[in-house]
Amino acid sequence: MNEKIEEIEKLNIVMIKYIAALKVLETQLDIIGDDFKYIKEYNPIEHVKTRIKTADSIIDKLERKNIDFTVDNVEEYLFDIVGARIVCSFESDVYDLVSIIKNSSTIKVIEEKDYIKNPKKSGYRSYHLKVEIPVELINQKTKVKAEIQIRTMAMDLWASLEHKIKYKAKNIIDEDINNTFIGASETLYHLDNTMDN
Ligand code: GTP
Ligand code: MG
Repeated sequence: MNEKIEEIEKLNIVMIKYIAALKVLETQLDIIGDDFKYIKEYNPIEHVKTRIKTADSIIDKLERKNIDFTVDNVEEYLFDIVGARIVCSFESDVYDLVSIIKNSSTIKVIEEKDYIKNPKKSGYRSYHLKVEIPVELINQKTKVKAEIQIRTMAMDLWASLEHKIKYKAKNIIDEDINNTFIGASETLYHLDNTMDN
């Protein structure tokens, strides 16, 4: 138990790094957003949400993954302590934004997953980037992992409702309900394509 408390204290110190990374990421996304709006002559970004995972949900996630709770493990295995979700107007904006971020030398892309072209079995659509953010503290220059999710409003609507329903109704989710989610995802995807055209 004492070990756990020690690790929590260590985690509090590491949090300074994550908070710094979040600030760098937010600022860079802000700059990109302003420029992107200028280039497109409309605002292609509906909104950006950023967050840092709480200590409780860090501990939960490690437990779910069967990984011991140590700060070293947090740093090694959790890519989404720092996260940003960018909601765009059109699907084409999502892809344009992905390529802008990939060209950034501040935000370094480590891995990308295109769940728009290859949606998850659930029907989930979104473009995910695992990235590294440079952070300069007083006595330490380092890189911090972060996750960026980029999606359209329709994809965001689906993800947010599906998450709420699944969370609330965990015990009654059956194949029928899952198929309904998949169907709704298709409908919204059709809407995205219609609007994009
Ligand atoms: P995690 O261990 O869950 O982080 O998996 P991962 O690192 O392989 O990442 P993945 O790309 O699978 O997805 C991570 C995040 O995407 C989740 O934390 C959710 O925010 C979102 N996500 C993925 N699948 C779904 C889904 O079926 N429904 C909803 N609503 N969100 C999803
Ligand atoms: Mg993840």
